[in-house]
Amino acid sequence: MTAFVPGGPPGRQRIETMTSEEFGRIAALLRAEAGIVLAPQKASMAHARLAKRMRALGLASYREYCDFIESRAGAAERREMLNALTTNVTRFYREPHHFEELRDAALPPLIEAARKGQPARIWSAGCSTGEEPYTIAMTILSLAQDANELDIRILATDINPLVVETGRRGVYPAEALEPAPKPLVGKYFQRMAGDGGEDMLSARDPLRQLIVFRELNLMGPWPFSRSTWPVRAPLGMVTSSVRPSLKAIRRVVPRMASSRSISSRARTSTPRGGG
Ligand SMILES: C[S@@+](CC[C@H](N)C(=O)[O-])C[C@H]1O[C@@H](n2cnc3c(N)ncnc32)[C@H](O)[C@@H]1O
Repeated sequence: MTAFVPGGPPGRQRIETMTSEEFGRIAALLRAEAGIVLAPQKASMAHARLAKRMRALGLASYREYCDFIESRAGAAERREMLNALTTNVTRFYREPHHFEELRDAALPPLIEAARKGQPARIWSAGCSTGEEPYTIAMTILSLAQDANELDIRILATDINPLVVETGRRGVYPAEALEPAPKPLVGKYFQRMAGDGGEDMLSARDPLRQLIVFRELNLMGPWPFSRSTWPVRAPLGMVTSSVRPSLKAIRRVVPRMASSRSISSRARTSTPRGGG
């Protein structure tokens, strides 16, 4: 089969309506690549997001777009499609009871073990733009001011490299941190002006040092070797709101367990939609 390569000039051409068959092809690809289930009610959302991609490629019909993303030549565009269709909703202290549970029950034994010299590893598996791992880091520092002297790390991963980069940058509009306790914000974020003079907050080193950001598709090949982090340390906890996560995490956790015994210690929170 000859690979289809888009050829038209990028522009503002009218995009043809997506048929249910074309929607099915896009949904099947998204499910196969990322484990994300796109319900038929999301067709207009998919159209709104993918129309931009089609204009960038100079395409007017979804049939051509589907042919392209299903072809070998369309590998890069498949990633663009995933980025366009993932939902990255997140907030600092989103669902506050999760962080109360972390503070009161889950983190204290990990910190205690870390003070005895054991590594503590927490995985935010679908971290979006970083608000979740930074909230975990603030919670850790609120319990243990010496956290940076201990072997505690949060692995923050997401399928979408753009959101991972935002997390790594660690700069947020000041109002995004309103749900966070003021003393923690004052201590662990620094005020700065955004490009347009907006009030921004940048994560300080004690938070940054606790988090490692990486691009990772939970449904894809496991990219870490046995000798690289986080595999060489037991995972203390896994947090995730990615829909395929429980299945995917169960798939990857035993692989990590093969290097050390972790499966009995890994905790997974219930997925709460999104992805
Ligand atoms: C709704 S956001 C949740 C962010 C954060 N965990 C929270 O609860 O605030 C879900 C994230 O999961 C990511 N995601 C979806 N499918 C994924 C997959 N197969 N592998 C890794 N990340 C995925 C999306 O890119 C998105 O950023």
